Amino acid sequence: MAHSDTPTPLESRASGPLAGRVRVPGDKSISHRALILGALSVGETRISGLLEGEDVLNTAKSMQALGARVERTGPFAWTVSGVGVGGFAQPATALDFGNSGTGCRLVMGAVAGCPITAVFDGDASLRTRPMRRILDPLELMGARTSDIREGGRLPLTLSGARYPVPIVYKTPVASAQIKSAVLLAGLSAPGMTTVIEQEASRDHTELMLKHFGAEISSEKAGSHGRRITLSGEPELHGAEVVVPADPSSAAFPIVAALIVGGSDVVFSDVMTNPLRTGLFTTLREMGASIEESEVRGDAGEPMAQLRVRASKLRGVEVPPERAPSMIDEYLVLAVAASFAEGTTIMRGLQELRVKESDRLEATADMLRVNGVKVEISGDDLIVEGRGHVEGGGLVATHMDHRIAMSALVMGLASDKPVKVDDTAFIATSFPDFIPMMRSLGADFS
Ligand code: S3P
Repeated sequence: MAHSDTPTPLESRASGPLAGRVRVPGDKSISHRALILGALSVGETRISGLLEGEDVLNTAKSMQALGARVERTGPFAWTVSGVGVGGFAQPATALDFGNSGTGCRLVMGAVAGCPITAVFDGDASLRTRPMRRILDPLELMGARTSDIREGGRLPLTLSGARYPVPIVYKTPVASAQIKSAVLLAGLSAPGMTTVIEQEASRDHTELMLKHFGAEISSEKAGSHGRRITLSGEPELHGAEVVVPADPSSAAFPIVAALIVGGSDVVFSDVMTNPLRTGLFTTLREMGASIEESEVRGDAGEPMAQLRVRASKLRGVEVPPERAPSMIDEYLVLAVAASFAEGTTIMRGLQELRVKESDRLEATADMLRVNGVKVEISGDDLIVEGRGHVEGGGLVATHMDHRIAMSALVMGLASDKPVKVDDTAFIATSFPDFIPMMRSLGADFS
């Protein structure tokens, strides 16, 4: 872990209008993928706008341990000299992914297609998270696991396949991590590897594979799903990657701007890939003023400038099929829902239970300790918005960056301050969150 192990609590209190223009850090999903695909390519990959958070830095270290050359050439600018598809070297030590499920699971896929053995490990949070969902398809492709803890938990040893087998795999849950792991392993398999998902998950791996020279197609399957087919054994060529700002990070100051009276904040270069913007759709349905301009794209990933102004919000019902496009945003949506008038029902949140923490329980607890009426009914979260929040609670972050940031956002408009027990994990995804929020006018102390 790069951050200190001593907890760093922080209190957030009612603040004046938030105002200014900010660019939140680079997208975490794209940053991981740029490093991994750079490492699996021949030649040099130049990345600008990389998220320099702990999660991504752990992926960079793992790429180095697997034989790629990874260098920081300036602020958020990195180059990767790759080893080519199937070319990873045996790492000398265990690969430690810290808090990052994405880094760990995607690299498992990449390693599964190489004839090497690697030990995968992570922090106490990552060690509780399920890995069977990734290992099942990778084993079908010829990878082998050993020294694995009960329930398919880390640490574990993964031996990649010498002759990977292409498969047709129907993912049991909508998960870009499962899909990406299979596709990355499929790079080394002769023939076609196909992933079928019932609900479309984020498609950054597909878009970036194409950008690096792979032959990959994606078609509709069923009412909300996709069928993705990758042609194995391509020669991937190093490429230029411009990482747009992370909509999942922007979500926190965006909700802050909506709930703090009189706020007016502009966000530059926010990625607006439709498979990531479920929160913006939902907030708009709640009455949020989010204006989009300067729409453009890079490597198939659209981005835009967003102007967000404080808005009167109302409760809505969020359908379960929207979950994959806003899976990381429910915590902060629950904060917005607490300040709305009326009931917000968020349906189909089972996947929240296996994130950095059990986010369904943790979100309900965060709201409850601050006087908000909230209920978990099966896999649904129901929040009774009353237009204002009492606050005054101490929120347990459970090693989860997004709980810490959501609670701090809540405190900015609550009647009484909101305290979080530990802000250290914010460094995994949004290292400058606290100073950036302060620059907009947030009162954190
Ligand atoms: C991610 C996929 C999502 C998301 C995670 C990042 C990715 O997880 O929660 O933060 O970059 O592929 P699942 O695909 O497992 O839902």
